[in-house]
Amino acid sequence: MRPDRIAVRPLEPDDVAWASDALAVELGGRLQARRSELIDVLEDQGLVAWLAGRRVGLLTHRPDGPARIELSALLAVDRGRGVGTALVAELVRGAGAAGIRAIRVTTTNDNLTALAFYQRRGFRLAELRAGAVDASRRTIKPTIGEVAANGLPIRDELELALPL
Ligand SMILES: CC(C)(COP(=O)(O)OP(=O)(O)OC[C@H]1O[C@@H](n2cnc3c(N)ncnc32)[C@H](O)[C@@H]1OP(=O)(O)O)[C@@H](O)C(=O)NCCC(=O)NCCS
Repeated sequence: MRPDRIAVRPLEPDDVAWASDALAVELGGRLQARRSELIDVLEDQGLVAWLAGRRVGLLTHRPDGPARIELSALLAVDRGRGVGTALVAELVRGAGAAGIRAIRVTTTNDNLTALAFYQRRGFRLAELRAGAVDASRRTIKPTIGEVAANGLPIRDELELALPL
């Protein structure tokens, strides 16, 4: 029997309750701190991944200057099954078709999985903001943890870029 295919569809109002819960579990909530600013990623445009009739992943994105977009959140509920890859592939496809020249994403020093994931998909490190997470914790989002589940201190922002 063939495995179910992952389908990627635009984020719709019906998806928001699920997306808000998933963001709370995976990424500390829909309010994301990066670039010294707190944003509600569910006010951004988004994509939802579906597998076997279930929502299994979310990607949100926003304009980021001329011909650039920022990937503002990405999560997969089911890991290692191609959900993240399918979401990024659809973002890249849509962005390319819209004349976008680059996609940027911010992650944090502790998130080794995300750092590997993005680099394997062609993103390159573009900027290090040392101490940026510590600053956000002090100023705009006190609920950011001090230590990640893998034991690493959460301190710095790393921005990656994918030229299209
Ligand atoms: C980062 C994240 C989104 C990746 O999502 P994912 O769905 O697990 O990613 P994929 O399954 O597409 O790829 C992960 C690995 O699984 C492998 N894989 C993909 N499909 C597979 C399949 N059908 N069978 C076996 N392995 C598979 C891929 O080869 C990939 O390995 P690689 O990176 O060495 O190429 C996910 O780890 C996550 O949600 N993390 C928590 C939230 C987070 O940190 N988000 C990023 C914030 S910036």
